[in-house]
Amino acid sequence: MQDTLQEIGPDSKPLTIFEEWMASAKATPGIREPTAVNVATVASDGEVHSRVVLCKKWSEEGFVFYSNYRSRKGLDLAAHAQTALLFYFDPLFRQIKISGKAEKTSRQDSENYWRSRPRESQLSQYISNQSAPVDSRQELEDQWHAAEQKFTGRDIPCPEHWGGYLIRPRTIEFWIGRPNRLHDTFEFEKDQAGWTFRRLSP
Ligand SMILES: Cc1cc2nc3c(=O)[nH]c(=O)nc-3n(C[C@H](O)[C@H](O)[C@H](O)COP(=O)(O)O)c2cc1C
Repeated sequence: MQDTLQEIGPDSKPLTIFEEWMASAKATPGIREPTAVNVATVASDGEVHSRVVLCKKWSEEGFVFYSNYRSRKGLDLAAHAQTALLFYFDPLFRQIKISGKAEKTSRQDSENYWRSRPRESQLSQYISNQSAPVDSRQELEDQWHAAEQKFTGRDIPCPEHWGGYLIRPRTIEFWIGRPNRLHDTFEFEKDQAGWTFRRLSP
């Protein structure tokens, strides 16, 4: 796998590299959630928060995850769109860092993804007041069962406060660990002309 890194250079396309690495991660035993990515955000008071989400799709436009817009991350992203994503594939000893700005995906996109989810997951998201305190597990389960009854025989609507974020990348950095710690780091930076490539010191 490491040999493919020799091919990363000024003519490489970061999305192609990302897709190759993601395919490798998905094919590697021991990576439970290859699309799990850490998302860092900055609150309005400057405090930094991070958490893991699942990156559900990617394209030239950017990287998409779904969440609750009223959650801590939602409030942070409303205050500061700047965010950083971090994938780490431990068995491959590879890391991908992405920085950029987040924007909400279209309502249509959020509803399409919502409809693709298992009903049980929809119920959990429907009742979740994500990041807010709850008294007990029982309270959550009671709310879940109440919603299950309420929507018997009906579709569960996608809440207005639930949907996708698209992170449009400004930089994408690929890192691969080497046994001698002389690691390889390649950064792509986007401007109006396209991507600029540079190797960074490890
Ligand atoms: C493997 C994994 C996947 C997760 N996927 C998501 C996700 O796709 N969307 C989401 O909102 N939270 C997801 N979570 C939960 C978040 O890490 C976090 O606890 C939650 O979104 C609340 O974060 P916040 O209070 O910082 O907004 C996931 C957690 C883990 C460990």
